Amino acid sequence: MPDSLTVTDNRTGKTYEFPISYGTYSDNGACIRALDLRKIKGTEEDFGLLTYDPAFQNTASCKSAITFIDGDKGILQYRGYGIDELAEKSTFLEVAFLILNGELPSPDELEKWVWNVTHHTLIHENIKKFIDGFHYDAHPMGMLISTVAALSTFYPDSRSVTDSDNRRRQIHRLIAKLPTISAFIYRHMIGRNYVYPDNDLSYTGNFLAMMFSLTGRAYRPDPVLERVLDVLFILHADHEQNCSTSAMRGVASSQADPYVSLAAAAAALYGPLHGGANEQVLRMLQEIGSKDHIPDYVKRAKAGEFRLMGFGHRVYKNYDPRARILKSMASEVFEVTGRNPLLDIALELERIALEDDYFVSRKLYPNVDFYSGIIYQAMGFPVDMFPVLFAIPRTAGWLAQWEEMMMDEDQRIARPRQIYIGPEERSFVEVGNR
Ligand code: CMC
Repeated sequence: MPDSLTVTDNRTGKTYEFPISYGTYSDNGACIRALDLRKIKGTEEDFGLLTYDPAFQNTASCKSAITFIDGDKGILQYRGYGIDELAEKSTFLEVAFLILNGELPSPDELEKWVWNVTHHTLIHENIKKFIDGFHYDAHPMGMLISTVAALSTFYPDSRSVTDSDNRRRQIHRLIAKLPTISAFIYRHMIGRNYVYPDNDLSYTGNFLAMMFSLTGRAYRPDPVLERVLDVLFILHADHEQNCSTSAMRGVASSQADPYVSLAAAAAALYGPLHGGANEQVLRMLQEIGSKDHIPDYVKRAKAGEFRLMGFGHRVYKNYDPRARILKSMASEVFEVTGRNPLLDIALELERIALEDDYFVSRKLYPNVDFYSGIIYQAMGFPVDMFPVLFAIPRTAGWLAQWEEMMMDEDQRIARPRQIYIGPEERSFVEVGNR
């Protein structure tokens, strides 16, 4: 049987044959080239057939070798490695290297990579000045997005996006500086002095120190919490072509520099349907307040009054594997921090929802955001900071996707088509005659 698709246009009776190509797995990623459909024309003058796909529900915008998701089976892999194994055996910086380079690093490569990231953690002193200019109660994502965009003005060399060595330098800078900027933003919100990076600490240990150290006291991160945060960062490192990654690729496809492109990606992440959901989950659990209120709350969600935050996913139609790992990690965290009472509400909410036909029939399962917020809160992070905690590790994914796009000869400036449904051509009427 040929790997092709035969289409008959009933307007003309003409038949067309298009090749079908595949990704790594033949049952996942079979596709035709959308441009082939242009050959299908009702008349010779026709523009050719378009596909109408709002929200890109069935359109592959790129070929990618970074992340594989099988949403029906609940599988997530980075460069072929299962997320469970990476969460158990790897570190965030090693995973970031893997995502960016395609292979796990050798010991020498890892040492060099960690050194490079560690030694780019400082930010220009002027950046502190404009962080100072934000209101103390400004949302940290607004501050993060603006500050990352502003880095573009500090590193004008970053505009040479076709130079691969240059791209690598910006990648080191961004992965290194995101935790520093995020911690400075938090310190600004609570009116404390900025704490400079400590190069002797790990990536997550240093971030915890910049967030939580008190003046005059040596801060040593709790090793359990340092490791849990590292696992959280691994789980959030990449998730293929979601809203923010598509924003990264879309903006960077115009050859905009990586700072403004990444700011756009972070802006997309900020929305409550994407990375802002972890914050909304916490607010939802607080609003529910007690297990007795859950049945009524679920009833209202089913009636369409609001959505259960942390439930459902465009791709996963099964339990999100990241949520499963987080759920099992919660007890480890609570042994150090004390139990977050919101966990009991979350567990009961999950139990009730997963027995309810509304959620079962729509395949709505807990996603990564359902349990992450409870853990972040127990660790002492304020709710507003949750999307920032998503953005820090996702920076590695955004940059890997950017790098892949820059190397992909199929890619050009992103420019979707539209189906025009406005009025046909008509003549202008002077204002007095309307
Ligand atoms: N609560 C209640 N009903 C829901 C929910 C929910 N959380 N999610 C989807 N539905 C219903 C929706 O009303 C629709 O029902 P019907 O067919 O009767 O109209 C059906 O399920 C399909 O929903 P959809 O909006 O077509 O699905 P989508 O693929 O466009 O949306 C989603 C995916 C993640 C935006 C959505 O599930 C949602 O809003 N979830 C809550 C927000 C959330 O947790 N977001 C984090 C996503 S994971 C982290 C990340 O990758 O950013």
